[in-house]
Amino acid sequence: MKEAPKSGPSPSLEETIVLSSADPYERILEQLAMLAPDADLEDAIWALVSAYAEGVDDLCVGVCVPDVEGDQLIVRHAPRPSRPRVQDAARLFPEVLHEQIIGIPYDDGSTMHIGGDEPLDATALKQVERLALAIGSVIRRARHVARLRNEAAEARGLRDQAVQSDKLAGLGRMAASIVHELNNPLTSIVAYADFLRRRLEVQDVAAEDRERLARISEAAGRVLAFTRDLVAYSRPSTAVPSALSIHDVIERALVFCDHVLADSHVEVVREFGDIVPLHGLHGPLTQVFVNLITNACQAMSPGGGELVLQTAIEGERVLIRVIDQGPGIRPDAIDRLFEPYFTTRGEGGGSGLGLNIVQTIVASHGGHVSAANGLERGAVFTVELPIRA
Ligand SMILES: Nc1ncnc2c1ncn2[C@@H]1O[C@H](COP(=O)(O)OP(=O)(O)OP(=O)(O)O)[C@@H](O)[C@H]1O
Ligand SMILES: [Mg+2]
Repeated sequence: MKEAPKSGPSPSLEETIVLSSADPYERILEQLAMLAPDADLEDAIWALVSAYAEGVDDLCVGVCVPDVEGDQLIVRHAPRPSRPRVQDAARLFPEVLHEQIIGIPYDDGSTMHIGGDEPLDATALKQVERLALAIGSVIRRARHVARLRNEAAEARGLRDQAVQSDKLAGLGRMAASIVHELNNPLTSIVAYADFLRRRLEVQDVAAEDRERLARISEAAGRVLAFTRDLVAYSRPSTAVPSALSIHDVIERALVFCDHVLADSHVEVVREFGDIVPLHGLHGPLTQVFVNLITNACQAMSPGGGELVLQTAIEGERVLIRVIDQGPGIRPDAIDRLFEPYFTTRGEGGGSGLGLNIVQTIVASHGGHVSAANGLERGAVFTVELPIRA
């Protein structure tokens, strides 16, 4: 709730002209003509009220305008000291005996309050109604300007967003080209490091040196996986969905995970049901299972265990469960698993993008992925995909 300063804005040359006119209609009209198109609403109402009230002795004039944000703008011209004579919370002028309220034309909810010791006579009422009309026009203009400003701000926001997405798309393209350049040398590093490690296993080489080579291979493998994730994350897919067998997708993912399965001593148990073909993207769906299988292996490493891959149809959906025998999902992680960059693997461990990518790909197929802990131990990740023609 605002109250205009009693003194109002400092008088300008034009105001002096207005205030010198004896005719209240003329004062209102001239003040209206002088208002700047972008004048603040409170200042504009104050100027009109003052222009009228200057020539009318001892009359209280107030205006209440409900704001778009639910606030109430109140302008009050009160020549008397505010010593309440009437107890009424709805009164704007409790210091006078009569207060008349008239609605401001063309603006629902806005009112004008006229206070004095006598009710208004017919001439004064007519003048006040003209003042209300002028104030109504000012309010309408102010609301229109506010709407235009909001629209302009919204348009600016949308433009900024578009620029931002453009920048992100540019970054994605740049990341893709960097990864493209990194991929080949990294693949060679991983492959040759693995090759040397296998050879050194049968030769008389110090265990620490074999360990060092293993670290090279692991570290390069991590960078490779990270860069691939990054590209998958930023690249808009141009592939076209086709009919596919989810079992083929899982088998292909298992081939990709050959290494990690062997390294973590994990044995795969297939519990495949009778599944109809699905409609989807082979590459991204393979990536879903590569990520889930890799996580399961990491959870069971180094002791190893069984990795159960179950498929079944339930209603209109195909359910694929990836069940491991690891320690299960940590209670503090269960609500954050799918957040990008969330990882419990510590510094230099995972990127934390794996499950987020899984979720994005599954959602883009109209499916859903969830995680839970097994009854005794281990984690269960369930991917649900809709069956479509
Ligand atoms: N099978 C699982 N058992 C227990 N915890 C898991 C399992 N799979 C995922 N998690 C938890 O979820 C976290 C997030 O997994 P996510 O795959 O997104 O990232 P990450 O494996 O840590 O890193 P990366 O990006 O290399 O995959 C893991 O750090 C781990 O805490
Ligand atoms: Mg992972």
